[in-house]
Amino acid sequence: MTTITLVQGDITRQSVDAIVNAANSSLLGGGGVDGAIHRRGGPAILEECRALRASRYGRGLPTGQAVATTAGELDARWVIHTVGPVFADSEDRSELLASCYREALRVADGLGARSVAFPAVSTGVYRWPIQDAARIAVETVRSTDTAVEEIRFVLFDERAYEAFAAQAG
Ligand code: AR6
Repeated sequence: MTTITLVQGDITRQSVDAIVNAANSSLLGGGGVDGAIHRRGGPAILEECRALRASRYGRGLPTGQAVATTAGELDARWVIHTVGPVFADSEDRSELLASCYREALRVADGLGARSVAFPAVSTGVYRWPIQDAARIAVETVRSTDTAVEEIRFVLFDERAYEAFAAQAG
């Protein structure tokens, strides 16, 4: 039985087994959630990301996929990095955004994580409209088979929180 919870706040402050990073393919850091996670989690995360680039992901982590590293100094045990699609008017990339949530949960199950915190993937630098992103996120986690007991959406601002609350109702 999976419970969906919503929190307005900073994902780096969550006490859960795994937090999901809205990364980019390089896995080498960036702004937004990615920047905050690497800043607070310390250099161990980047070290593992570099090792992943040198081994499994020479060309980077493809959009819609997910991979785990240590969470360094964060409360969480793991960071699950996923790469959301950049929003485009010209093309429907919803399936890739849904894949981020599905793949992150698959990785979480592999780790044995019981609680996972997600940000609103793709809704910052990647410009996905928040209402649509919230619908895809909630529908996808609801329809994914997982042993994760708590899926916590951590929304940075009130607008994002309201959009998710409207979907998770
Ligand atoms: N905790 C929770 N949510 C946050 C936090 C935080 N600490 N900081 C920002 N948000 P973004 P993307 C919200 O841009 O759109 C990076 O440079 C933010 O308000 O972090 O998937 C990566 O390296 C927004 O609603 O991720 C990539 O290059 C949401 O998190 C690129 O940005 C996602 O915003 C990925 O872009």
